[in-house]
Amino acid sequence: MTFTHRHLLGIEHLRPEEIVTLLDLAEKYVTLNRSAEKHAEALSGLTQINMFFENSTRTQASFELAGKRLGADVMNMAMQASSITKGETLIDTAMTLNAMHPDLLVVRHPHSGAVDLLAQKVNCAVLNAGDGRHEHPTQALLDALTIRRAKGRLHRLNIAICGDIAHSRVARSNIMLLGKMENRIRLIGPPTLMPAGIAEFGVEVYDNMAEGLADVDVVMMLRLQRERMDGGFIPSEREYFHRFGLDAAKLAHAKSDAIVMHPGPMNRGVEIDGELADDINRSVIQDQVEMGVAVRMAAMDLLARNLKDVRGAA
Ligand code: NCD
Repeated sequence: MTFTHRHLLGIEHLRPEEIVTLLDLAEKYVTLNRSAEKHAEALSGLTQINMFFENSTRTQASFELAGKRLGADVMNMAMQASSITKGETLIDTAMTLNAMHPDLLVVRHPHSGAVDLLAQKVNCAVLNAGDGRHEHPTQALLDALTIRRAKGRLHRLNIAICGDIAHSRVARSNIMLLGKMENRIRLIGPPTLMPAGIAEFGVEVYDNMAEGLADVDVVMMLRLQRERMDGGFIPSEREYFHRFGLDAAKLAHAKSDAIVMHPGPMNRGVEIDGELADDINRSVIQDQVEMGVAVRMAAMDLLARNLKDVRGAA
């Protein structure tokens, strides 16, 4: 098997062939999820605990459904971000849960690096469901599957990632994944929302939508991450939409068959025009949600197989 990891902490650690292995398995789960009988046995007898220290609707629901469809016992822990702000407390929580013998821990945390730290302390598989502005690997994988299905390939595409790049773990994981698969990546947004040193990632940077979108195959919009901003990064939402919000007029600069993506939750009228987001001829936003469940099933299936190897050998 070409996927040998114990945890899924980030795209950074994955090789291109591992990404393909995971996406190919996810395709099988897309088919299963579209059938009347949606159950498989890959996680049968295993315990999955979801620990979300940050609010989440779709990602948590997606992981929960993925686990249940594969036969796991799934538990959602209600974690209040405010009560757990110190690394020490996070580890204490992890150790407590670890003593209950979970097999899969799905963790979202507001601090970059917190999930990696936790993975070092437990003896089960850990999946990063988003850590601060660092990584969100299953989002990048579901985006990759969506692109591959819509475009028929996942290489040599021109892909624009637009908006609040600086605060976005979605952007970071996508830049790594799409770069590993040899696509051309453009980042478009105001300079205040571009991370320092971004050029090192081998991307092109634009602060003008018309120029940046010229001839792209994929337009990926990002939410303005207000909860990670302290101070004024944009003049006003109106002004932001005018310059960087995606609408039909700006999309006209892209290829005529370019697809529109957004990880959700969307701010309609801020980063994307509501009508365009709902236009099923251009927008694949609902497909992204569908692919999310399949990709998470594939990720947990692969990690569970490795878990059996690790524990079986011990
Ligand atoms: C993203 C996240 O949490 O990083 N959302 C998600 O996983 N569905 C993007 C965002 O919050 O804007």
